[in-house]
Order: sequence, then C-alpha cells, then structure tokens
Amino acid sequence: MRPHMSKGPPRADLEARTKASRAYADRARRSLPGGVTAGVKYFDPYPIAMKKAKGCRLWDLDGNEYIDYCLSFGPLVLGHGHPRVMKAIRDSLQSAGTTMFGTPHELEATYAERLLRIFRPDGRMRFTMSGTEATLHAVRIARAYRKRPMIAKFEGHFHGGVDEFLVSHTPSRDETRKGLVPISGSRGTPEHVLKNTLVLPFNDLDETAARIRSHADRLACVILEPIERSYIAPDPEFLKGLREITADHDIPLIFDEVMSGFRVAFGGAQHAYRVTPDLTCLGKIIGGGLPCGAFLGRPDILDLADPVRGDFFQSSTFAGYPIAMAAGMATLDELEKPGAFDGLLETTRTLTSGFERHLKEHGVPAVVPGVGSVFSILFMNHAPRNYRDSLEADEAKRSVLDTSLLARGIFVKPGKPFYVSAAHDNIAIRETLDAFEESLSGPA
Ligand SMILES: Cc1ncc(COP(=O)(O)O)c(C=O)c1O
Repeated sequence: MRPHMSKGPPRADLEARTKASRAYADRARRSLPGGVTAGVKYFDPYPIAMKKAKGCRLWDLDGNEYIDYCLSFGPLVLGHGHPRVMKAIRDSLQSAGTTMFGTPHELEATYAERLLRIFRPDGRMRFTMSGTEATLHAVRIARAYRKRPMIAKFEGHFHGGVDEFLVSHTPSRDETRKGLVPISGSRGTPEHVLKNTLVLPFNDLDETAARIRSHADRLACVILEPIERSYIAPDPEFLKGLREITADHDIPLIFDEVMSGFRVAFGGAQHAYRVTPDLTCLGKIIGGGLPCGAFLGRPDILDLADPVRGDFFQSSTFAGYPIAMAAGMATLDELEKPGAFDGLLETTRTLTSGFERHLKEHGVPAVVPGVGSVFSILFMNHAPRNYRDSLEADEAKRSVLDTSLLARGIFVKPGKPFYVSAAHDNIAIRETLDAFEESLSGPA
C-alpha cells in the first residue's frame, strides 16, 4: 500500500517518515564516506536505507513500503527474491557443499555455452565478477590484440569506475563547450590516460567516422554502450556505420551490454539492431542478482587469454563461482519462457505511455525516452539523441519529481533511469501511475 501523503511539501513529508534512514546515514557516514558503499547509492540529504524486499517492493528501516524502479541499478529483472532464483541458489549450495571450488566446475562451461549460443556461437568467453571487470578486460585484450594503448569511447558513456572509462563520462555543460576533448571524471586520473583516450559523439556518424579515421593507426578499440545510458536509442545506421568503419581498420568494436544485454532484447542491442561487435561485455542480469560479469567475442582475440599461449593475463579469484552461474541460468530460464520478455516490454510501455499521458494532461514539458525495459524522465522539449542533448534537461525539476515520488512510495534513484521487472504487476503499475499523477498536481 502506498503511503498517505500529508498536505505539506514532499521533501518534509519524506524526511518525517524516514527518520531511521537519517539516523542510519549519520552513523554510516562515520565509517563509510558519504554513508554509502558506492557513490551511485548516495542522494541528498541522505539515501533511504532498506531492510527487506520482495518482488517489485522494498521496505525501508522505518517500515515504509516502496515500489522499486531501481532494482539494484538493473540486475533484478525478475524482481527481488524470485522463487526459482532463490531455489537455484539453495540447490547449488546444497549439491556443491561450498560457495566456490577455486577449480573448474561443470556449471561454468554449461553457462558459457549458453551465453555464447545467444551472443556469439563461434566465440569464446571469460567470466568476471562485475561489469567493470568485464569492460576492463575487454579493453585490455583488445590492446593485447592490436598492441596499442589508445582507446576510443563515447561522451557520456559509462563502463565502470576505471580511469579510462571515467574520461568524459559526465562532463558538465561548461566542459562540453571545450569540444570533444578528454575530460577527467575523477581526481587522480593519470595524464597518459587522457592522452590515450579519444572521445566520440554518439549518434553522430560523420564526426565519429572522421575521428576514428584520423586516429586509425593508433586505436586499440572502440567501446560504447550501444544504447546510451540504457535509454537513448542508437540510429540503426549509426551502429552499422560504426561497425563498418571499425572493421575497415581492424579496430575491435566492443559493445558494453552490461546493462542492455537482457533489457532491450533477449540477446541485447546486437540482436535488436543486427550488428555484431568483435567483443561483448555482460554483467548485471547474467548473475541473477549475484555479482557476475563476462566478456566474450571473436575466438582469435579471446584465445589470447589461453594460459598455454601466455599472451594475455586475466585472472579473478571468485569468477565463475557456482551460485552465480546457477542464479544467472535460472533467471534466463524464466526470461526465456514464452511471453515473459514480451510481457516485460508491455509492462514498460504501459508505464511510459501512462507517464506521457499525465505529462501532457498537466502541460508539463518533459519526455520519457526509453528502450526495452529501461526509461527515464527528462524535463526538456525533445527526446535526446545523445549525452550533450540530455544536458538540456532541467535537473532541478527532475529532483522535485523524484522526491515527490519517493514520498509517495515509488522508489527511483533520484536522477537515474527507471528499471522495470517481470514482478511489476498491474497493481504496482496502477499505484505508480496514480503516484505520478499526484506528483504532477501536488505541492512541490
Ligand atoms: C553499461 C555499464 N557498463 C559497466 C557497468 C559497471 O558494472 P558493475 O557496476 O557491475 O561493475 C555499468 C554499471 O552500471 C553499466 O551500466
């Protein structure tokens, strides 16, 4: 049940009902910078701390209930604690008698074969423990293949908290006025990283092609989120053109499908847009709610990691641990059931079209861009085509909306996209649309 709002401002209301989260934040700040274990989990004035979850719902330390549109930043595509996934974890623990072997085991190859059938039947892959580790090693192996240090990445694209991926991942409006120059996204970025990163504009094929061509003899790879920020669609011609130009110069093209892998289509953006990259990075959903990532692709590149050859070093103590393989496969089993993926897309469409209807009725200039089961709300007049466009959006208005939704029991990480799960049922969708409508008409 959604909370009953007082007639006061949503922020005061939210703070009044989340006193235990505030107390927790005060305590946690003393040991964890900002009171969080990852910067992305923080929001102002303090993040709401949860203690229980089920399906599409979360309960915070004060006992408030929320409908979850963060889903741990995407992985929980079946919702929290899906019975089949929980059983797979329990069964794996029971039959293995341990959380990990530290040796090869059968589930690793079984899951690898399955993911390769979906993404690259002639390919090879390695598991990692996270999306970041997957992108990191994909870039490293591309460098090993081309024996060059420089990489190209797109402005506004995120591939994990690593020096080269933080280059130009969130430049400010002022910084973008300098042109497409590498901007450090964090203190401590070494100068050589900035020098060896070429920044490209998403959905601008002419400029992208010109930049790649002029650096073609230096580039080890081009990496991108084929769906920018998981909700801005690529022009199909853009991805195809990018594929052609990188192939012409034998520059490995890396699709970071950590987010899009099982959200835009079963098999990611490469299936939806029929473009085959040289390397693909996966994460999030493939672990079924447990830490897991993977990089896969062309056998001639991946085989550099064969220890017998000794060309390329990659290792990870925990990678491929049995419960993540079991939870990931159980998740894909559910998603593959007839109608399951289509149902998820349909639920998302019901939500986005409902949001759009309410925005129109209230004369609010905002757009709801989305792809697959992820979307966002941007207070601007037209759908953005890339990161630069999205900087036109009014963040302050979005922040007011997010606070208002939180106060009404809709959990969205402020400023971030909305992720939908198969556990979002009709009741949850109706409650969400009601809360959204009230937020547009209620006190700011
Ligand atoms: C597209 C993309 N790549 C890589 C990552 C990093 O994944 P992880 O947080 O599992 O390291 C993320 C995380 O949000 C992501 O969205």
